Amino acid sequence: MTSLRLIQAIEAGTVDRLPAGTRAEVDGGRVGDTCRVIAASVEAEQRRVVEALLNCSVAVTPRAVPALRQRHEFVVSIDRADAPLAAATLVEQLGYRRHPEWTAGADRSFWATAHEVALTRTDATTFVARLRWATPRPTSLPARLFRPTPADWATVALPTWGWRAYGIVRPLRLLRERLGDPPDHASLEPFLATPTSLIGPLLDVAEVDAHDVIADIGCGDGRIVVAAAERHGCRAIGFEFDAGLVDAARRRVAAAGLDAHVTVVQGDGLASDLSGVSVAMLFVPPTVAARAVPVLLRRLPRGARIVLHEQSRLSTDLPEPDRSEPIITADAVTVARRWTVA
Ligand SMILES: C[S@@+](CC[C@H](N)C(=O)[O-])C[C@H]1O[C@@H](n2cnc3c(N)ncnc32)[C@H](O)[C@@H]1O
Repeated sequence: MTSLRLIQAIEAGTVDRLPAGTRAEVDGGRVGDTCRVIAASVEAEQRRVVEALLNCSVAVTPRAVPALRQRHEFVVSIDRADAPLAAATLVEQLGYRRHPEWTAGADRSFWATAHEVALTRTDATTFVARLRWATPRPTSLPARLFRPTPADWATVALPTWGWRAYGIVRPLRLLRERLGDPPDHASLEPFLATPTSLIGPLLDVAEVDAHDVIADIGCGDGRIVVAAAERHGCRAIGFEFDAGLVDAARRRVAAAGLDAHVTVVQGDGLASDLSGVSVAMLFVPPTVAARAVPVLLRRLPRGARIVLHEQSRLSTDLPEPDRSEPIITADAVTVARRWTVA
């Protein structure tokens, strides 16, 4: 399989379905072997989760992890009544993380209206455990208007008592969103980190050197900005919305002794001063990328490079990247795209 066909296969998601034994060699990597390694590690993690849930008497149905799947994600089905206990077990015993938005007093309503919760465990890669249960969808018009849904948790922060009254203001919020722009960074999707094995190759695509100032727009736990400063001796700025991740990133910078090289800023990286930035890194969902890349092309100085990595197909409205290549390591697969500001 040629590089081009491999990129198309990754973008179309058909890498999941490459027949066993398929070999696609790109830059010395073998996509078949990589996907097999990923599938095996996901299965092992799923077994660990199932065991922990069975130990606390939660009945579990694991969904098979498709062979050759490149995503570090799995699903287990449980009873709705067990959902809070199952999530607590993953957090307390296995080091998984809940999305911060729905912990702030919203629990009861969340469990009543959601049908799944995604929890993440991050070290070199991020595993996403989706606990899924069946919740009848509200069918009557009043229920659809007044009952909060998981999307509400992501957009509104309220204390417990506030959620009891929230149904009254929900129709007004829906109306306001319909008339104006919906908030675009609110999401209950879990935080995914770039697998550490991909970071070096991504910085190579950006052609980072010691004179660069690299910004990670949405730096998560700071792994890319720290790696850039360590490997290339450059200065780096991480922008991040999430206060918990900002703390984690700052701890990572301090532990690496890089306070003089790396700054972590809490806030919107797309609305910040980027005039001194020569490289911007992006790993955000395709919907966010569709807005972010044009903003960066407008706001970064001439000659700056933007490097985005993502396995999925990107919006066709984006300008053609000047470089697009798959990166395949022993435990991860992605496609890097690079744009240069004219
Ligand atoms: C998929 S994670 C990637 C984290 C990190 N860059 C990495 O590759 O490991 C995306 C992160 O971007 C943050 N984010 C998205 N858009 C942002 C923006 N405009 N400004 C600041 N943070 C943003 C999200 O909160 C999330 O933590």
